[in-house]
Amino acid sequence: MTRTVYLNGEYLPEAEAKVSIFDRAFLMADGVYEVTSVLDGKLIDFDGHAKRLERSLNELDMPKPKAFDDLLEIHRELVRLNGIEEGMIYLQITRGAPDDRDFVFPDPETTEPTLVLFTQNKPGLANNPVAKKGIKVISIEDVRWGRRDIKTVQLLYPSMGKMMAKKAGADDAWMVEDGFVTEGTSNNAYIIKGNTIITRALSNDILHGITRAAVLRFAREAQMKVEERNFTIDEVKDADEAFVTSASTFVMPVVEIDGAAIGGGVPGERALRLREIYLEESLKAAV
Ligand code: PDD
Repeated sequence: MTRTVYLNGEYLPEAEAKVSIFDRAFLMADGVYEVTSVLDGKLIDFDGHAKRLERSLNELDMPKPKAFDDLLEIHRELVRLNGIEEGMIYLQITRGAPDDRDFVFPDPETTEPTLVLFTQNKPGLANNPVAKKGIKVISIEDVRWGRRDIKTVQLLYPSMGKMMAKKAGADDAWMVEDGFVTEGTSNNAYIIKGNTIITRALSNDILHGITRAAVLRFAREAQMKVEERNFTIDEVKDADEAFVTSASTFVMPVVEIDGAAIGGGVPGERALRLREIYLEESLKAAV
């Protein structure tokens, strides 16, 4: 079955959806995005993603596409048209395509934003067998720009980080700035010491994960202590458990960093429990 995607008001077969070579995202990485997961054919935390998207647009002074208020309907229609039970919806908004390359932002009166959405079918996403053995990470220097709270499509360094991890025989990389972990290449990073979850506090240094917000809420409800503070790689090596969160991995245990086993090298019981709670509770609230 060929995938049906959405581009600027139209549902099209993927091969027919074309964007101009002058699009600002293509030339300047001038675009923002969201990834929303789908479980049981329903959207997980749609409102959270829509709010963060609006914030990203505001921070960059990027106009909203005309269809902004119809985004829920568009997500649902793509799920329906592509028969998605488990997977993700990728959404991207760019500052549009003026008729030439120019550093100066185009006039929003004459250049409309580009809006693209497509589905990614991932059967078995909730029951991902990787969660049972956990993932290995390496640490790398965080050399990204200073506004990581905005979800832009400037993903070259995260992409290089994944390649560095792959070369080192690991699955992902945790980034470190001034001696402290910021986040994973495409996820938020946590350690657990005793009954306490430790994760970096929200600031411009990291993406304000939608999964993070939910998981920390569930952790507090489950009587776990949450400390939002900086932590070092030495603390990670010494932790009882570690994990990452994101819309595509939910809660994923981390069992090794830079070749050193964390918590005996197997997924921790608290991380696995948080994964269960997260999946259960977000499914109940899915739309
Ligand atoms: N990435 N930090 C970074 C740098 C991310 O790219 C992501 C998400 C997160 C987690 O945010 P959330 O819980 O809202 O998914 C944290 C998405 C999944 C991606 O780029 O594919």
